[in-house]
Amino acid sequence: MEDFEVTPWKASGDINYEKLIKKFGVSPITDSMKQLIKDVFGEIPLEVRRGIFFSHRDLDKVLKDFKEGRKPYLYTGRGPSGPMHIGHALPLIFTRKLQEKFDTFVLLQFTSDEKFLYNPELGPEQVYNYTFDNIRDVLALGFDPDKTYVIEDFRHIKYLYQIAVSVAKRITYSIVRAVFGFTNETNIGMLFFASIQAAPAFLGYFMDDVYNCLIPAAIDQDPYWRVARDVAVKIKLPKPTQIHGKLLPGLKKDVKMSSSVPESAIYLSDDRKRVKKKLMNAFTGGQPTVELQRKKGGNPSICVVFDYYKFLFEEDDKALKERYERCRAGELLCGECKMDLVDRVSRFLENHQKTKASIKDKDIERVMIDNKIDLHSLVNEFKMLR
Ligand code: TYM
Repeated sequence: MEDFEVTPWKASGDINYEKLIKKFGVSPITDSMKQLIKDVFGEIPLEVRRGIFFSHRDLDKVLKDFKEGRKPYLYTGRGPSGPMHIGHALPLIFTRKLQEKFDTFVLLQFTSDEKFLYNPELGPEQVYNYTFDNIRDVLALGFDPDKTYVIEDFRHIKYLYQIAVSVAKRITYSIVRAVFGFTNETNIGMLFFASIQAAPAFLGYFMDDVYNCLIPAAIDQDPYWRVARDVAVKIKLPKPTQIHGKLLPGLKKDVKMSSSVPESAIYLSDDRKRVKKKLMNAFTGGQPTVELQRKKGGNPSICVVFDYYKFLFEEDDKALKERYERCRAGELLCGECKMDLVDRVSRFLENHQKTKASIKDKDIERVMIDNKIDLHSLVNEFKMLR
């Protein structure tokens, strides 16, 4: 039994990503892969440089194809179970950067159905409200509206259903039980849902001339892709490829930032006062007293506050390294380090909230898949599905 757990619905304990790489059968992003990324993009994005996006499946193939003029499309998503926190923003910000690099379209799936099925407390109206609030948050992160298609499962199921049924035909109960840990008590909607989340990993091929589907997401979503990759061969479509991120830790030790544990998370809607209260109580690698900190130095390697700088709030590698060293040397005290982070997080959130407030209903309508793609043309294409 491991002392940590990562599933699409739960993450706890001190996550050992090297063990996860082995357990999930994915490939680490090695130095030679980083070199390939540099060859193709001219730089290594911060998230890869710092090991925040740390593993993949077939990313080398995507990059080589791209180098030879064969584009991928991107696919990522959000399960609207509540307000979004800054951890959710992380893969989305990275996806937006990749959208610029690959100059391609992105499918953004909002799994209102998944959250309704999974959470007995959530009614359709609540899910619906969260969905639209979350769509606004995601658009505020800056996706190119001309190349962005939002799929909201309840509303747009007709774009997914035929693919999902073809996928479902190839997934048995014993597969989903083994991959997702489903039991006799799991409702049948959750069993079928695996094929709904797989569908956008194939939909892009019916929309445009693209060669791969690349999915940037945190590693917790990986079980879905394992199933989708197995099915791909059977439905004669390319296997979806992935680049996996680490989970931004929660503010308390060994707890993933989670919408369902409010004190663990900084929400995109938090104001400065809340941010300050949460960060001031965050778990750090500091010593119990100022004297000890000055004498022995802190431990940024286990510090949540340092992680936040590293994951999102310090772009400059040199400044990050300096912060690390000043902490180790006992020059930087936790209070100062936390206050600086409060300023940065609050500034980021204020800007985000302003942009979000400027997003009008018509901006949302503009990116909805049903306003961009004629279903009839797709249905014709779907005829090749088996
Ligand atoms: P959801 O809403 O749980 O998470 C949305 C995205 O955020 C990632 N994530 C995190 N990343 C960093 N730190 C964290 N603490 C953290 N918590 C969550 C998730 O990996 C995900 O990338 N079923 C999905 C919705 C979905 C989806 C997709 C996600 C549908 N299609 C395709 C990714 C790719 C869900 O509930 O995500």
